[in-house]
Amino acid sequence: MCTWSQSVLFTCSRKASPTILLFFTVCFTTFAVILRTTNKTPWANEFNSIELSCLIESISTNNPRIEWKKIKNGEPSYVYFEKQISRELENRAYIKEPATLVITNLTRSDTAQYRCEVTAHMDHKTFDEVLIDLVVRVKPVVPRCSVPRAVPVGQSAELRCSEDEAFPRPQYQWFRNQEEIPQDPKSNPKFLNSSYTINHETGTLLFTGLRKEDSGQYHCVAENDAGYAECGPQTMEVYDVNIIGIVLGMLALAGALLVIMVGVCCAYRNGYFIRSREAGNNYKAPDSRDGLDYIKPEDEGGFRHKSSFVI
Ligand SMILES: *[C@@H]1O[C@H](CO)[C@@H](O)[C@H](O)[C@H]1NC(C)=O
Ligand SMILES: *[C@@H]1O[C@H](CO)[C@@H](O)[C@H](O)[C@H]1NC(C)=O
Repeated sequence: MCTWSQSVLFTCSRKASPTILLFFTVCFTTFAVILRTTNKTPWANEFNSIELSCLIESISTNNPRIEWKKIKNGEPSYVYFEKQISRELENRAYIKEPATLVITNLTRSDTAQYRCEVTAHMDHKTFDEVLIDLVVRVKPVVPRCSVPRAVPVGQSAELRCSEDEAFPRPQYQWFRNQEEIPQDPKSNPKFLNSSYTINHETGTLLFTGLRKEDSGQYHCVAENDAGYAECGPQTMEVYDVNIIGIVLGMLALAGALLVIMVGVCCAYRNGYFIRSREAGNNYKAPDSRDGLDYIKPEDEGGFRHKSSFVI
C-alpha cells in the first residue's frame, strides 16, 4: 500500500496525527525502486514470442528511466534506450507497461541474458535491475544418417545419425523396421540376439558380431524440447559368408594356375620360346615366308611336304 507513495506522502504530511506519522516513517524507508520478474529463465521456440517480465514492485518517481540491455558472451548492448528499441530488435520488440519487454518472431540469436534497469531519481534507493536468461529453442532439421548397405555376418557396423541446428542439442533414437531399438537388447525379444551399443547423445549405433536377423530398414529420429525430425529408412543387409564357396573358388584358382604353369613348362621344354626367339631374329628368314618356322626340326620334312601339298 506504500508502493504508490506519492499520495501516501501527501496524506502523511497533511494529517500529522501520531499514527499517520508513524505510518509515514515506515513508508519513507520503502521509498525505493524495487523490481520483480515472474520468470528468470524463460524459453520459447524459434519464431514464437516471449515476454521478459519486469514488474515494478515499488517506486515513488514518476517517469522513471527504463532501459533493457542484452548480454551475450559477456558483452552488453542496448536493447531499449531512451524509449527506443534498438535496431537489432526493431519491429520485433516493444515495451509493455510498466517495463516488460516483449520480443516477437524470436530468432536463435536472441538467446542471451537480458537486464531490465530502472532508475528512479525521486526514490531513496534510486536503482534496481533484474536479470533474465532467455533460451530460444530450435527444433531439429532432418538428420544425416549413414547406414552400411551390406555387411558380412559376424562383422561390426557403425550406423551414424547427426543434426547441427537443434538447440538444445537433440537426443537421437534409432529404429529398425519402424521398431524403436532399445538401449538394452534384452528388453525387447526382437532384439534379444543382437549385440550393439546405442549412444543417444552422439547418435551412434554400433553393432558387434552382426547376425542375419540384424538385416532390415534403419532410420533415426533427432528430438529436443522444440520438436523432432527423422531421416528416411535405409536398408542394411547382413549376408552369409559362404566358406565352402570361398574354398572351392581358391581351389579352382590354384588349379587354373597349375594348368598354366604345366602348359608353360611343356611349351618351354618343347622349345617353343627358343624357336620363336630365333624367328624374331630372322635367323631362318628364307623359311619364314610359309610361317612354319615354329615347327620342330624333326617334323619339318613331313610338314613341309604337307604344306607344299596344300600349295
Ligand atoms: C520471422 O523472421 C524470419 C527470419 O528470422 C522471417 O523469415 C519471417 O518472415 C519472420 N516472420 C514474421 C511473421 O515476421
Ligand atoms: C534368438 O536365438 C534363439 C536361439 O538361437 C532363437 O531360438 C530365437 O528365435 C532367436 N530370436 C530372434 C528374435 O531371432
